[in-house]
Amino acid sequence: MQVLMINGSPKKNGTTATALNEVATELQKQDIKTVFCHIGTKAIHGCIACGKCATTGVCVFDDDGVNECIDLLKKSDGLVVGTPVYYAGPNGALCAFLDRLFYSKSAAYAYKPAAAIANCRRGGASASFDRLNKYFTISHMPVVSSQYWNITHGLTPDEIRQDEEGLQTMRTLGRNMAWLLKCIDYAKGAVPLPEKESPARTNFIR
Ligand SMILES: Cc1cc2nc3c(=O)[nH]c(=O)nc-3n(C[C@H](O)[C@H](O)[C@H](O)COP(=O)(O)O)c2cc1C
Repeated sequence: MQVLMINGSPKKNGTTATALNEVATELQKQDIKTVFCHIGTKAIHGCIACGKCATTGVCVFDDDGVNECIDLLKKSDGLVVGTPVYYAGPNGALCAFLDRLFYSKSAAYAYKPAAAIANCRRGGASASFDRLNKYFTISHMPVVSSQYWNITHGLTPDEIRQDEEGLQTMRTLGRNMAWLLKCIDYAKGAVPLPEKESPARTNFIR
């Protein structure tokens, strides 16, 4: 089994990576592989709502890693997304990345457990955590929880390492995700996936 870890910070080895690594180490201890996708520092296109992905399954923009990440997520059994907090929300570049990762493609991600983690210096992590969970809860992805909201505090990796409770929350999250992945794997073939109704779409409220 494999979990995709998306680092939504421009910094490859910053605080977000430090928190993600704590989760990944715990998953690896439970014999779950981890694969990292770093959104990087290059420009990431926002979704232009062209709707082409509904027929092709991929994004029309093929130069910023989103299409590779779609493929990685399809091949993975679970997902963890980490973000630094920017103005009390997730990094805007990460939101652009995730809008295109999920839009019209999320049927392929259904029933894969997912979790968001947010790191901030001081405030806004809870709002960022809530925002990221929205991608999962509209996509039939079971959200994995921990002993606290998945938040760490610090401006540098060293400060994160001093956030004892934050790191413990990350480790608990890793173990909880491993447990859920094993439960789902064990139940394969024995418990059918839930029946889906054909989607009702009402674009306004009468
Ligand atoms: C544009 C910008 C906005 C930020 N806004 C906040 C904020 O609202 N609250 C906060 O506590 N820290 C804020 N920070 C600090 C970052 O959340 C913090 O540096 C974070 O740990 C960076 O993660 P990284 O090392 O993975 O890039 C901001 C940083 C930047 C660059």
